[in-house]
Amino acid sequence: MEKQLYLAAGCFWGAEHFFKQIDGVTFTEVGFANGNTDNLPYEQVYTDPTGFAETVRLSYDPLRVSLPFLLQMYFRAIDPTSLNQQGEDRGTRYRTGIYYTDPDDLPFISQAMAREAARHSKPLQVEVLPLNNFFRAEDYHQDYLDVNPDGYCHLPVALFQEARDARDLATLQKAEKYRLLLKQLQSLLEGEKDPIACMANAAAMLHDTFHFWWTGFYRVVGDELVLGPFQGPVACMHIAYGKGVCGTAWQQCRTLLVPDVEQFPGHIACSAASRSEVVVPVMHNGFVTAVLDIDSQHLATFDYADRHFLQEVAALLPC
Ligand code: SME
Repeated sequence: MEKQLYLAAGCFWGAEHFFKQIDGVTFTEVGFANGNTDNLPYEQVYTDPTGFAETVRLSYDPLRVSLPFLLQMYFRAIDPTSLNQQGEDRGTRYRTGIYYTDPDDLPFISQAMAREAARHSKPLQVEVLPLNNFFRAEDYHQDYLDVNPDGYCHLPVALFQEARDARDLATLQKAEKYRLLLKQLQSLLEGEKDPIACMANAAAMLHDTFHFWWTGFYRVVGDELVLGPFQGPVACMHIAYGKGVCGTAWQQCRTLLVPDVEQFPGHIACSAASRSEVVVPVMHNGFVTAVLDIDSQHLATFDYADRHFLQEVAALLPC
């Protein structure tokens, strides 16, 4: 599983050299993003009136490095309060920007922006937009500082060591815990056909391992969700199709990551202490038969690594 992100961070030579050395980044290339027109010759792409930003396209493994961690590193490599200038490079093509292709990224990006804004007295000048277009730059721009170690670079050399040393320990440790849990759960559930028994032990094991606020299941019963096995404080017992995070995950047949429950329209607050949530549909023969719902007392607890591993947990259940 890989994710994509496009980051404009000033001159793309130094920016690519920085990002490509971060553990968990699996691919980089440089190009021009979010200009105001397509199909241009390169001579025009390079000019400010076409509106393109020098950008690094990167792929990363979310089981090694999280989006918030990558954005934390991004802010290390830019002056986020500087408009259309990074180092000595000036012009709109040296503006800073975070361009995403997955709308699920937006809440994580917004939170990272808010955290960064709190560290500065001046407003941030970083654009946050969906990716509109991207031109790969000519070959001689790719891996520029690998090919030309003494070439121009607007970033301090010490930053590259920082990139090499960076480890998203929280994500690495979380992935390890999930891998172990999956092994244990698989052997525990082996041969067991009763779905409620399996859900009960899956909820207990997840809750015990991660100490979430609430971990449990809602089962599809007729046209609604009914409370199933869970660990944690008492919870609401019936949720209608399409209602709350659980009913919406059922309706959309997809995992929903909610970094801040207050930002989710229609969120059902069984407990005022819950601040972020993940809901994973349990599928059987193409139908949702239940949802796995986990609540945290902290903001932004769940990310793409949780989604990946919790979907594996759901897949172990007999129905
Ligand atoms: N918050 C959920 C309701 C279930 S409780 O979190 C246990 C929702 O909005 O669907």
